[in-house]
Amino acid sequence: LVIIGGIILLAYLIGSIPTAVWVGKKFYGIDVRQHGSGNAGATNTFRVLGKKPGSIVMAVDILKGWAATSLANLLVNWEAIEPQQLIMFKLILGVVAVIGHIFPIYVGFKGGKGVATVMGMVLAVHLPVALICLGIFVVVLLLTKYVSLSSMLAAISFPLLLMLPMFRPDNLLLPIFGIFIAVMVVLTHKKNINRLLQGVESKANINPFKSK
Ligand code: G3P
Repeated sequence: LVIIGGIILLAYLIGSIPTAVWVGKKFYGIDVRQHGSGNAGATNTFRVLGKKPGSIVMAVDILKGWAATSLANLLVNWEAIEPQQLIMFKLILGVVAVIGHIFPIYVGFKGGKGVATVMGMVLAVHLPVALICLGIFVVVLLLTKYVSLSSMLAAISFPLLLMLPMFRPDNLLLPIFGIFIAVMVVLTHKKNINRLLQGVESKANINPFKSK
C-alpha cells in the first residue's frame, strides 16, 4: 500500500511540473498566466512566446501524462497484479497526473487545462484510439483554427471511440474513465466555451511559414 501511495504521489508531482510557467519565466522572464488566455499550457505558450517554447511545453506536457501513466508498470515488479488491475492503476495514475497539471503544487495550484497531459495518458493506455483523437484534433484545428474546440472534441471522442465494437475493451473501465476525462477537459474549458459562444475566442496562427 505504501508503494501504491508513493507511486500515486509521484504521478501527481510529475503532472504538477508547470512546464509553461517555468519555460516562460526562466527563458523569457514572463509568466504566461499573465498574458494571452492566462492559461499555463502549450497553446498559450505558442500564443505568447512563439513556436519553439510552445513545442517544448507541448512535448513535455504530453510526456508527463505518458510517464505518470507508465509508472504503473513499476508495480508489476513488486506485486503480482492482473492485467485488469494494471489498466485500472494506469488510468488512476493518468488522471492524477492530469489533476496535477491543472492544480500544480509548485506554482500556487494554478495550472493548465490538461489537454496535452491527457494526450500522453491516452497514448500510454490505448495507442490506436489516441492516434484517432489526435487526427480529430488536427482536422478540427485546420477547419476552425480553434484549439479549444479541437481539444474538447478530441477529448469527447475518446470515450465515444472506446464504445465502438472494434475498440471494445474487455471491461468498462476505459470508457468510464474516458467519460470522466472528457468531462474534466470540458470543465477546464468553461471560459473558452463562453468565448466560442460569443464569437470572441482567439484563433490559432497555424501558418507554418510564419514564425513569431
Ligand atoms: O490546451 C488548452 C487549449 O485547449 C486552450 O488553450 O490558451 O486557448 O485557453 P487556451
